[in-house]
Amino acid sequence: MAHQTIEQIIEDAEKEINGAADPRVLNDLSVKYLGRKGIITQYLRNVSDLPEEIRPEQGKKANQAKERLSKEIKQAERQLEEKRLVDIGGIDVSSPGRPMNIGTLHPITKMTAEICDTFIRLGFEVVEGPEVEKDYYNFEALNFPKDHPARDMQDTFFVSNDIVLRTHTSPMQVRVMEKHKPPLRIIAPGKVYRCDSDITHTPMFHQVEGMLVDENASFGDLKGILTAFIHQIFDEEISLRFRPSFFPFTEPSAEVDILCVICRGKGCRVCSHTGWLEVLGSGMVHPAVFENVGYDSSKYIGFAFGIGVERVAMLKYQVDDIRKYFENDSRFLRQF
Ligand code: DAH
Repeated sequence: MAHQTIEQIIEDAEKEINGAADPRVLNDLSVKYLGRKGIITQYLRNVSDLPEEIRPEQGKKANQAKERLSKEIKQAERQLEEKRLVDIGGIDVSSPGRPMNIGTLHPITKMTAEICDTFIRLGFEVVEGPEVEKDYYNFEALNFPKDHPARDMQDTFFVSNDIVLRTHTSPMQVRVMEKHKPPLRIIAPGKVYRCDSDITHTPMFHQVEGMLVDENASFGDLKGILTAFIHQIFDEEISLRFRPSFFPFTEPSAEVDILCVICRGKGCRVCSHTGWLEVLGSGMVHPAVFENVGYDSSKYIGFAFGIGVERVAMLKYQVDDIRKYFENDSRFLRQF
C-alpha cells in the first residue's frame, strides 16, 4: 500500500465510489479513505518521510485528493437518495421546479388608489356602497325618471324590475346625502356594470365618483379641483377643456377632455384626429337631486364628477384595448 501513488489511490477510490449502491457502503468508503486511519490520511502522514524535493508537491496532491474524494462521496450519497425517492414513487426529482410567481397589485387597483389619493389630499373622504343597487338610487333619485331616454345611455343589467347592477357610482351621492348633512366632500370608488363589450368597453369596469356640497361651492372650484387632479395623474403641462354635456343629475354638465397624450393636440388615431381625449363627466348637482334627499336646494350648492378608472389607466399607460386589463395575462400585468 505504501508503494501506491496518490493517483492510484484516487483511481481505486473512485472505482469503489461509483460502484457503491448503498449509502452504507459509501459511509464505509469514507472511513476507509478519509477516516482517521484512512488511506489518504495515512498517506498524508507519510509525506513527511519523503525526500524534501517532492514533499510539498506530494502533500499538496494528497490534500487535493482528500477534498476531491470527499466531494465525490457526498455527491454519490445525494444521487442514491434521489434514486431512492424516485423508486418509492411520486417524486420526480429530475422534473423542473415550479416557478414561484410573486404577485403584484392589479394595475386597476393601483390606478384606483392613485386617483383616491389625489382626492384624499384635497380633503375628500372615501365611501363605498353596494354594486347590486335599487333602481331608485341608480336612476330615480338621480333625476332619471322612468322611461327617460337618458336611461338608454347606460345599458343596464337588471336583477329584477327595480333592482339593477349599478351602472355608475353616482348612486353613492344619494346614499351619502341621505345620511349626512352638508358640508360634504366624498369620493366613491368601485365596480360598475353595463351590458357592453368591445375594445373600449367591458361589462364590468371601475369608476371613482366625487361630490362636494357646501353653501358656496362654484363651477370654478370644480374646475380647480379637476385640474389639480389631472395634473397630478398625468403631468403639470397637460391642457384640459370643459365641454358642455348632459347628465340628468347635474346642471350645467361638462365632460372634461385632456389634450391627447399621444399627439399633444396634432390629431392621431388614438384621439380620432380631434386632438382631445375624454376623461370624465362632471357638473353642478341638479337641484332636483338635492330635493330628493331633503337638502334645501336654495341654500346648498355642489358639484360632482365621475371618473372612469380604466379610461384613465388606458390613457396614462397608452394601452389601446381595455380587455387587456382583464385577461389576466401575467406578461401584461407584471409591467405595472
Ligand atoms: N355617472 C356618469 C356616467 O357614468 C358620470 C358622471 C357624470 C358622474 C357627471 C358625475 C357627474 O358625478 O357629475 O356616465
